[in-house]
Amino acid sequence: MKGRASIHRDFTVSQIDDRLYSAFIEHMGRAIYGGIYEPEHPTANEHGFRKDVLELVRGLNIPAIRYPGGNFVSAYKWEDGVGPKEDRPVRLDLAWRSKETNQVGINEFAKWAEDAGIEMMLAVNLGTRGIEEARNFVEYCNHPSGTYWSDLRRSHGVEKPYGVNMWCLGNEMDGPWQIGHMEAKEYGRLADETSKAVKAFNRGIETVVCGSSNDAMATYPEWERQVLEECYENVDYISLHKYFGNNSRDSLNYFAKIEETGRYIQAIGGVIDYVKAKKRAKNDVYICFDEWNVWYHNREQDSKNWHVWDWPEAPPLLEEDYNLEDAIFVGGLLNEFIRRSDRVRIACIAQLVNVIAPIRTRTGGPAWATTIYYPYQFASLYGRGTALNVAVDCPRYDARVAQDVKYLDVSAVLAPDGRSLAVFAVNRHPEEPMEVDMALHGFAGARVIEHKVMGGDASEAREANTCEQPNRIVPRDGSGLGVEDSALQGTLPPFSYSMVRLA
Ligand code: AHR
Repeated sequence: MKGRASIHRDFTVSQIDDRLYSAFIEHMGRAIYGGIYEPEHPTANEHGFRKDVLELVRGLNIPAIRYPGGNFVSAYKWEDGVGPKEDRPVRLDLAWRSKETNQVGINEFAKWAEDAGIEMMLAVNLGTRGIEEARNFVEYCNHPSGTYWSDLRRSHGVEKPYGVNMWCLGNEMDGPWQIGHMEAKEYGRLADETSKAVKAFNRGIETVVCGSSNDAMATYPEWERQVLEECYENVDYISLHKYFGNNSRDSLNYFAKIEETGRYIQAIGGVIDYVKAKKRAKNDVYICFDEWNVWYHNREQDSKNWHVWDWPEAPPLLEEDYNLEDAIFVGGLLNEFIRRSDRVRIACIAQLVNVIAPIRTRTGGPAWATTIYYPYQFASLYGRGTALNVAVDCPRYDARVAQDVKYLDVSAVLAPDGRSLAVFAVNRHPEEPMEVDMALHGFAGARVIEHKVMGGDASEAREANTCEQPNRIVPRDGSGLGVEDSALQGTLPPFSYSMVRLA
């Protein structure tokens, strides 16, 4: 099979917002307790956080992290998680039918995020609570001193305010499963007023309003229209969520879900434009794709478990053993975000540790990187700068979720130095190698300085990294790609993901 592409340094999509490579972590399962926090673990630091996990997290160079939920946030009292640990109440978490000990709250999490070098993006509870609690939380976090909430924070040993500039206005408020679920107009009004209150603290604060929980919701995309009509001028982003799976064991259809995601982004972009025009608004609203990932391996079983279990503390939940196919999928999905970075400014892999995560741990034991860690890492490390508009011509296929889908999936990013280029390429074909010829315009003298590849053999599609075999699927040095006649030429193995750096 042959694929052609054309990459021109001046034909750009957008400046990529670094926050395209953000993450999400929720109080659920073993994400916090037994994930990032395990005071009894041999690697725990003085705050009880696992250093082995921190090291893996740092390797991802994550710009921002959304916290503390997710569905969890919709019945959460943030005040339960501050002050002396021994006085903190144990509560029932209604979202995941678990016990929340509140041993980690905002101040512990902020410490962890600081150590990890990540900016916090906090969600407020608009399920069981509202404007009053949201403004108190912002004041606790962001006000320097001399008020009830800021002095309370200081009395908890945190002198300097956190200056959190990203606030999410609830979570998946369209979902009937959400505690405090609302109708679109009702939520839009509440989001509008809450956003005004949150932004009153500081002009730099940005807010994210909830879009649909996914594009299969019956109320999608009408939900977005109605919500935005209530709050457009007072918010900065609208959230998109989407989880993926391959229950039918049809890899090509699985990969085609990336095209479906492109349509989802495009549709919401259209709704944003419509509302902006209707309101004669001056401001722009962008997309915050604040939950995305593969979630299907144990989904059915997990759902059976947590609906009946007896309120356990930090139970294993949504712990997916990601395989090679999932890694190729994630690489491709990140390509789509890069291609759509004019609309999608923030995106958060959901989640970060143990729960549908690139990093897994065993309690008392090791931590390891799942297969999806690597394409996420490559995009985060080398996908910063300017997204280029890559023209691709190659054989195509029809799938159930999308037609005329390209076997070759490419994105390209010009680094901030204005010289280096990163090319992320997936050959989706399960058997055939792809002979590529990617014309490089405006990159005279560029040479391949690094090529990493995952995959190459579809018979390994379902091979995963596990605690026992953490390095079964890892990137290796690629070969056979080079620059000739001002073009990146060579062969991409079948069923593979490649990251190529040129300078
Ligand atoms: O990430 C797991 C859950 O998925 C989140 O709590 C919720 O927002 C979504 O439905």
